[in-house]
Amino acid sequence: MRKRVIGNWKMNGTIADLPKIAQIAAAVMRYPNVDSGLCLPATLISAAHAYSPQLQIGGQDCHMQEAGAHTGCISAAMLLDAGASMVILGHSECRAEQGQSDADVRAKALAAMQSNLFAIICVGESEAQRDLGNAEKVVLDQIEGSLPDICDAAMLCVAYEPIWAIGTGRIPSSQDVENMHGAIRSRLIERQGEGGKNIGILYGGSMNGENAGELMAIPNVDGGLIGGASLLMEKFEPILAAANIEDII
Ligand code: PGA
Repeated sequence: MRKRVIGNWKMNGTIADLPKIAQIAAAVMRYPNVDSGLCLPATLISAAHAYSPQLQIGGQDCHMQEAGAHTGCISAAMLLDAGASMVILGHSECRAEQGQSDADVRAKALAAMQSNLFAIICVGESEAQRDLGNAEKVVLDQIEGSLPDICDAAMLCVAYEPIWAIGTGRIPSSQDVENMHGAIRSRLIERQGEGGKNIGILYGGSMNGENAGELMAIPNVDGGLIGGASLLMEKFEPILAAANIEDII
């Protein structure tokens, strides 16, 4: 499977950062074997799309309705209209700060599909849940609740992001990543049949240029969702390079 490397800029970036986005777009073009892009704050999508039209751009959340009385919210159709081709859904920061449930994430995923936006659906356990030995159950329950019944690799991928690894510089052991991605793969195949084999499973949480090669070589790790290391081309490019090499092998 081709690797996918998606940057998540979170609540960072203004118009002054368009040249940085253009540098990342240029780096992305140097690795044509990798499916990559940047998920930007919604305020930047139109401008970034106009400034770097070759770059795949995404949003970081969307509402489940197409339009209406939802002050402060943005629909999938609006993201598409602004130039996005994908959207992150169910990120742990959205689940925690906005109380988004699995059912909310599933409804958002259906809305994204209806607007032809590729959805990156995030799941992941807290440190307390891992310490209690519940990580796999928590993550598989999130998969069960957050993914639409009918879905395939062209519509969405999953991002496994242990909450305790996000922005902390800590990552799970390779064995733990392999076990979790293997469990997710089995569940996707159980749910979606043969099609479940092709659904991408990204790893996210403190991925950087130093650890990307090792992480991406783990079975069923089909790419990465990158926060901090996606903000600068110099930090993002080594991750693209690691994904590109794996693809060629
Ligand atoms: P990080 O964030 O790479 O900064 O840990 C990943 C994410 O939250 O998607």
